[in-house]
Amino acid sequence: MLFVVCQTAFRAPSKGLPAAGNSTSVRRDPESAIRASEHFRGAVQQPLVAQAHTGDAVLSHDTVDIHSIPRQQVVSPHLSAVPEVARVLRRLGLGCLPAGAVESFAGRNDNWAGTTSTGAAVFVKQVADRDPARPGFHRAVSFERFIARTPVPGLLAPRCVGWDEPSGLQVFAWLRGTRSGAELIADRAFAEVHAHQVGRAIGALHGAGFDERDGIDRTPPPLPSVELLRALPLRHFLEATAAELAFWQLLQPDRQLVDALAALREAEAAAEPRPVHGDLRLDQLLVDGDAVFVTDWEEFRLGDPARDVGGFVGDWLSYAVRGITAVDDADTTALSDHDIIARGTAELTRVRPLLRSFWAGYRQARPVRDPQLESRATAFAGWHMFDRLLATSQRSPRLSAVQRAGAGVGRNAVLAPQRFAGVLGLDVTV
Ligand SMILES: Nc1ncnc2c1ncn2[C@@H]1O[C@H](COP(=O)(O)OP(=O)(O)O)[C@@H](O)[C@H]1O
Ligand SMILES: [Mg+2]
Repeated sequence: MLFVVCQTAFRAPSKGLPAAGNSTSVRRDPESAIRASEHFRGAVQQPLVAQAHTGDAVLSHDTVDIHSIPRQQVVSPHLSAVPEVARVLRRLGLGCLPAGAVESFAGRNDNWAGTTSTGAAVFVKQVADRDPARPGFHRAVSFERFIARTPVPGLLAPRCVGWDEPSGLQVFAWLRGTRSGAELIADRAFAEVHAHQVGRAIGALHGAGFDERDGIDRTPPPLPSVELLRALPLRHFLEATAAELAFWQLLQPDRQLVDALAALREAEAAAEPRPVHGDLRLDQLLVDGDAVFVTDWEEFRLGDPARDVGGFVGDWLSYAVRGITAVDDADTTALSDHDIIARGTAELTRVRPLLRSFWAGYRQARPVRDPQLESRATAFAGWHMFDRLLATSQRSPRLSAVQRAGAGVGRNAVLAPQRFAGVLGLDVTV
């Protein structure tokens, strides 16, 4: 691997994003979208740019906390190793959890769910902020303050029973028997009624008033980091997996993509800040019949609504691309271009009605017109493909052909959002 140490930095020219509705050639053809997957599939690896941390370097290795990037984690420690759980439950008057009869769910933080000695069904979560200032925990708490003060019609979230600042613990009602949105997708059971409800809830959230007393975070989310797209800090380089380095090698030499992401960040900064979930994905949803609960509010902040729309839509896009790989494909690298395009087109066509339902629900709840919203949301949906690829690359030794295909589709959405919005169902007018 070539390692280029470079100490110069530059800024991309400032550019706005075109509005989705302004284009005369709005493309709703899923096949053309999937064809864009070719871009990265056979990509030749380019040298990676990393940057030494010197006194006057523009970039320090603290620019982005790489530990804040989600990692899959299934097993939470035994409750005997986390005595603060019992302490906090006792303080809340909820008795104690029987250590041998708790369940844990996949997530980046530890969690324990069970029925306490007083009969309360609780879901306890410990937000593991690396930053001692605990920004994630405080954002989650600020959501509870916000939602207690501001009813948001249609938004369902697990009821928070209490929290404990020193340990970073939050206690919720355990929504037993619910299934996550991701699980429903696996069974093809995520229906248009669910998508519509999520759209309504998120639209209402974005339209809700807020109070300075809620202490809602106003800092911009760390990714996509324009700095990392230009040069990796040395420590980050040394700690990265081979697949993560391959990820940055894919992006860094792509000047068009880097410039488009920089323009997206500028457009995001210029958007009117609204209360947003900030990390909306299908595995953050809990479904109970037709009701959908939105969980995990650690990224709650005042930000660009396009982030949430792009997160939901982009997650569907990433499932559609993943659907290219049929369960019986032993070797995904053996898929031909034709297979990838045909299967990807079919998957995207299948999920589009759900995306249209989501967007119709959103528009119903928030008819306010932001002419750039669809374009920014589409570009964020494109970025979401890279975001998921980055999360996967931190756990895997190499990037597969289908993963690269996903990045190619994402690139297309970032570069030409006005043409891609219709493919993603963001063309419904209410
Ligand atoms: N109140 C709840 N009741 C039941 N399951 C829950 C509840 N909250 C979250 N979960 C499950 O636990 C998983 C992890 O919770 P989440 O809040 O997303 O934590 P993380 O920050 O670790 O991602 C979710 O995907 C969901 O399946
Ligand atoms: Mg989560």
